[in-house]
Amino acid sequence: MTQLSMFLPADWLDWDAARLEFEVRKHNRLYWDENRPVISDPEFDRLVERLRSINPHSPVLDALGPDPAARVGEPVTHRQAMLSLEKCYDEKTLLDWAAKFEGDVVMTPKVDGCACSIRYGADGRLEVAATRGSGTVGEDITANVKRIPNVPARLPVTAPVEIRGEVYLPLSAFAKLAGEFANPRNTAAGALKQKDPAKSAAVGLRFMAYDVVGAGLETEVEKFAQAAAWGFEPVEHALLDRAGMQAGYESYVARRQQLDYEIDGVVFRANRVDEQVRLGATSHHPRGAIAYKLQGESGLTILRDVEWSVSRSRIFTPVGIVDPVSLSGATVTRISLHNWGMVRSKGLSIGAECVAVRRGGVIPYLESVSVPGETPIDYPKTCPTGGFPLREEGDIIVCSCATGCAGAIVGVLSHYANAVGIEGFGDIWLQTLVDAGLLTQPADFYRLRPEDLITFDRMGETLAAKLVENCATHQTDLPLAVFLAALGVPGLGRTASQTLARHFRSLERVRAATPAELLGLPKFAELSAEKIAAGLAAQAHTIDALLAAGVTVATEPEPAATDAAGGPGPFTGKSFLFTGTLAAMTREAAQARVEALGGKAASGVSKALSYLVVGSEGKAGSKLQKAQEAGVTVLTEAEFIALLDATAAP
Ligand code: IVH
Repeated sequence: MTQLSMFLPADWLDWDAARLEFEVRKHNRLYWDENRPVISDPEFDRLVERLRSINPHSPVLDALGPDPAARVGEPVTHRQAMLSLEKCYDEKTLLDWAAKFEGDVVMTPKVDGCACSIRYGADGRLEVAATRGSGTVGEDITANVKRIPNVPARLPVTAPVEIRGEVYLPLSAFAKLAGEFANPRNTAAGALKQKDPAKSAAVGLRFMAYDVVGAGLETEVEKFAQAAAWGFEPVEHALLDRAGMQAGYESYVARRQQLDYEIDGVVFRANRVDEQVRLGATSHHPRGAIAYKLQGESGLTILRDVEWSVSRSRIFTPVGIVDPVSLSGATVTRISLHNWGMVRSKGLSIGAECVAVRRGGVIPYLESVSVPGETPIDYPKTCPTGGFPLREEGDIIVCSCATGCAGAIVGVLSHYANAVGIEGFGDIWLQTLVDAGLLTQPADFYRLRPEDLITFDRMGETLAAKLVENCATHQTDLPLAVFLAALGVPGLGRTASQTLARHFRSLERVRAATPAELLGLPKFAELSAEKIAAGLAAQAHTIDALLAAGVTVATEPEPAATDAAGGPGPFTGKSFLFTGTLAAMTREAAQARVEALGGKAASGVSKALSYLVVGSEGKAGSKLQKAQEAGVTVLTEAEFIALLDATAAP
């Protein structure tokens, strides 16, 4: 989806249901039908959530996605009508149906997708693909079907042929879409009618063939074999005698949850095409086929707990943890509780017996409460990511900070970029990229691609390429101290990071350091070694993600052995001035140690001075004041000794 900056007016939370319906409809149309959205996805989500909380039954909520009446392509007249299927719900009706023809029965799962006809020409090329439409006239979806990966572009045929089947969205692909659709079928239907084939292809549609028309094949089994030989994925099938039909149906009831696509029944067909022809068809369905529908969409269960899931737009949604209940063949333990308003209005409490429903879609939800429970439910008072207080906004619970935790994330990202030197990402861009879901943590800088960035307003190809390059040039061989400071661990600023880098020399050793080890380092006592160790541990995920994204951190060189000859050492380029009386050694001895490590003894305070060491008996004299004004680091004697120890340590 194209991402845009914030466009909702400040008073949008005051809108009533009618205004919200108007806005949701408008933005849905701008995105899907007109391909020119003006608000970002998270904003759209918030509008939808808000409408859902005010009027959960609004018809607008069921009509999200492309307008089914808005034709994508030209009408396509089917060569042969695409009919529906007769339904049955029990074995007796099924046996009565099967008594009317000769030969075996073919059983296939009834895939819950969108019927599709694909015609190939005499030269084998895919000519036209169409929806079922009215059954007589469908709509042209050729461009989108051509981009379904398991639809062959060419067949090795010399006469025209038509393949019919179901376009469906695998459940695994549906699960990856944080979309606004209730179920995979609606998502597939929306994607098929997309005007932009690239958007359609991004959804992950698949095609399963269940019929070959016009090839002169004599049985259904031959058709499946032919479709497979041409490179199609035929719907799975079994050849049965009548006595095996009920058991076959039951095997699907049992296996339903293991399939990567939704099914809403089991289709039985006469295997012999001549028998199908003899039986003929009504205007609604062929007599040679029937769908045995699956049941069991709702069930009783007990609510045991409530968890809160957080959307990208920082809305907190309650999820019910329930006793396992079998719905449409799937064992369900988590159900959607919709929003906080519903928890309140239904007087929901832990221990309540309730009706859970799983209809069409994959997300089961709480429909009603049959017996109230005892323990009241409350919402969490602070956000686990940012620590901001949560608050009620009508029926929904949102993070209180104006920009929610996204604001906190922008701060983290900005700090990282500045610390490692990645240029070009101001807070406005960061906010936009956070809203778009492209940046969620520092590691994401290294995953940005020019094609992701180019979709934004005011982002040209040159800028997009430059930003990606800026990230890449600060990806490898980062100095350890820079990397540590970039993490934004409280208390671990530039100086402390440098101390850690010098002492431990590699990221692995820093990560393995105990608070006790940190305590021995200069300045760490005051800074609370414990806090830094805990802060670093809390960043484990961020660090791992950065390393996984290809970031490498340089290992600090071994400190040079004490070099009295004045060659390079760990203090090379550093100057020290001592004031007051040192307790543990003479000033001369201290100067000698500094020089032995490559440093210089200075004679006065200047901006160039690296450290002023104030002896334990030293008074806060003029040198100290000057040093402070010049921004020189001031060390106590103890800190100086710790620095010597750390630097000289093997
Ligand atoms: S056989 C007359 N086999 O179900 C059509 N149809 O409700 C004979 N469907 O529009 C089709 N899975 O798109 C057949 N394994 C399957 C199917 C299947 C899904 C769809 C088909 C048809 C609808 C009828």
